[in-house]
Amino acid sequence: MLNEIHIENLIAPLLVWYAKNKRTLPWRGIDDPYRIWVSEIMLQQTRVEAVIPYYERFLDALPTIGDLAGCDEDRLLKLWEGLGYYSRVRNMQKAAKKIVDEHGGAMPRAYEEVVALPGIGPYTAGAITSIAFGLPQPAVDGNVLRILARVSDDATDILSAEMKNKVTKALHEAMPQDCPGIFNQAMMDLGACVCLPNGTPKCKECPWRPQCLACKRGTADALPVRVKKTKRRMEERTVLLVMDGERVLLHKRPAKGLLAGLYELPNIAGNLSENDAVEAVRQMSLDPMHIEVLENAKHLFSHIEWRMKGYLVRVADAGTFSYGKDYFLIEKETLRKDFSVPSAFAAYLKYI
Ligand code: ADE
Repeated sequence: MLNEIHIENLIAPLLVWYAKNKRTLPWRGIDDPYRIWVSEIMLQQTRVEAVIPYYERFLDALPTIGDLAGCDEDRLLKLWEGLGYYSRVRNMQKAAKKIVDEHGGAMPRAYEEVVALPGIGPYTAGAITSIAFGLPQPAVDGNVLRILARVSDDATDILSAEMKNKVTKALHEAMPQDCPGIFNQAMMDLGACVCLPNGTPKCKECPWRPQCLACKRGTADALPVRVKKTKRRMEERTVLLVMDGERVLLHKRPAKGLLAGLYELPNIAGNLSENDAVEAVRQMSLDPMHIEVLENAKHLFSHIEWRMKGYLVRVADAGTFSYGKDYFLIEKETLRKDFSVPSAFAAYLKYI
């Protein structure tokens, strides 16, 4: 259990290990809170190696908080394309606007003000304020929970508020006051490079091995304990890749809800037959000429799983097409260059 160990005794070996083994990353060795913020938000659901090119591109395009606040929404979504979870970047823009309006365009320096910004929770606020401003704030994410669950042989569910609270409290008390940002990043690297998830920790390389209770007791593979609560609701959907020559039919989703405001391939609830799919395209004032069955695909959102079947429907030249205010026929090249279609549709976008 967490109270069986002394975190104070873990700090020195961790910092020595980090000095030798830290990863070289573009957001390391800087104290610009904006850059640190961007990196932390991108890293929330995406691996470090995958994030790096997005990070560079995003900051080249939007080098300041003011640039992010003023960025046109479609351009912003395009810059985020491939990272998924678009609400993250929308919240960043909301926070950037708030920083411009209420803090003169500079990230506030107090933890309470940072954690009050849209999309910034305790982890991100802890990471930003410790790394950029040297505040002794822990940054507790799944990696930190895992390594502390193992080193203390604690089988409390790491998804529970109980575990998060006790780890946060223990770290608050033990944080080195002179280098909190380095300490937090050292824990991130230990979790990412040594105390790996999925039952394969590299205990031989671990600076905490002499003190680690899971290693001593042989429980590392069984830790951490995660009790999943939410089961995904399964939805069948039929995706229609509709093309008239070089143009593709896109639909702009409603401003609220799943994938809010994003452009998508038109899709319909249920498992439509070829005839139903042809009829659905006719209903959109188009003239289907040929239909081809595409593969099935699956996409996991946080609470919903889409099981998709797809059809490629070629239609007669639609001229100046008009069907409702949210359907558009877009040239393939323009689609590639200027539109961001969520990765949920990746299986079908490759046919364009
Ligand atoms: N994962 C989340 N934040 C990170 C950071 N700052 N460095 C490396 N890995 C991370």
